[in-house]
Amino acid sequence: MKNRTNPFVPIYHNVNNGTNKEKEAKFLSGGGNALPQYIDVELTNNCNFNCRFCPTGTKSMHRMRGYMPDEVVEALVKNVKEYNIPAVRFIRWGEPTLHPEYLDILEKIKKTGALIHINTNGSLLDEAQIKRLIDIHLDSIKFSFQGADEGTYNEMRAGGDYIKLLNIIKMFYNMRGDLEYPYIQISTTLTDETDEQIENFKNDVGKYCDYYNIGFTKLNHLNVNSMKVSEEEKIKIKKLQEHEKINHVYRSNCMEAFDKLSINWNGDVTLCCSDYDNFMIVGNILDNNIKEIFNSNAAKIYRNAIAKGQYGLIKCCSECYETIPLTK
Ligand SMILES: C[S@@+](CC[C@H](N)C(=O)[O-])C[C@H]1O[C@@H](n2cnc3c(N)ncnc32)[C@H](O)[C@@H]1O
Ligand code: SF4
Ligand code: SF4
Repeated sequence: MKNRTNPFVPIYHNVNNGTNKEKEAKFLSGGGNALPQYIDVELTNNCNFNCRFCPTGTKSMHRMRGYMPDEVVEALVKNVKEYNIPAVRFIRWGEPTLHPEYLDILEKIKKTGALIHINTNGSLLDEAQIKRLIDIHLDSIKFSFQGADEGTYNEMRAGGDYIKLLNIIKMFYNMRGDLEYPYIQISTTLTDETDEQIENFKNDVGKYCDYYNIGFTKLNHLNVNSMKVSEEEKIKIKKLQEHEKINHVYRSNCMEAFDKLSINWNGDVTLCCSDYDNFMIVGNILDNNIKEIFNSNAAKIYRNAIAKGQYGLIKCCSECYETIPLTK
């Protein structure tokens, strides 16, 4: 297999470096001229899956649902071009491939010179879409799993089919052939899978990607009592939630608020990609440009609270932590 490197790595390196205090000082020394190093975009917060761990899938997200309209797309393209934003990732809180114009939007952003990435559940990709993604020179793609095999994936990702997804990834991998791009990543997160299940997963996906990442499913934000699952299942999830609550440490480094911006389908801009319900809105790209929003007073106030470690003051930051691996 050809050895490819993730083209986003130099950007991630900058974002991951430094303490929150150092990042705040660096940002303030920019004198109002600081710019985000990359932008995360939500083309839609609708989804064709009902994943049990995700605020989109469990319907615990309360904000309005929709698809990014043309005027927001145009504002996004204009800003990325004007401010030479190095990279744009199509991820956030829905399935981007559901947007009827998603391929054209990716192409428009690519033409500005920015690197482009997409995160997807993969279910809707067919041969024609894969060909177009390769033709427009998509730089990187991440296919999301949960669990480690057909049983655990299908249980967590209601609406998904493990075998079908593996076949789509295989097609993508084969169609890419010897090209340098797109960089193919696979991610999964676990709850209580066994070592054997994890090893089998690595065997299933390892040969069809350049990189895979295995993390932990965060469950604390879920309102288990309102979930449509069996009583036995509820008890299991509550136990895992309790474990997660005890075994956590707050992040020493915020990878979001100081270096980048995240844009919702309606143009609202938030300081964190994980902000699924408008907890940190700092502007809208239909009203102000990216530079003004990035340097706004609202953004400064949130950054100052994070730099001081006052995570509890902001709803999504109070739930943001590195989970110590679950023990079985
Ligand atoms: C919200 S999804 C949106 C993009 C696309 N629909 C997908 O599934 O890849 C983005 C990523 O967040 C991850 N995610 C969502 N909720 C999570 C949770 N509670 N714990 C761990 N990962 C989570 C998903 O696995 C996915 O990789
Ligand atoms: S496919 Fe992605 S956006 Fe949709 S419910 Fe699952 S994790 Fe959430
Ligand atoms: S939730 Fe808050 S602390 Fe965590 S990454 Fe986002 S902005 Fe930073």
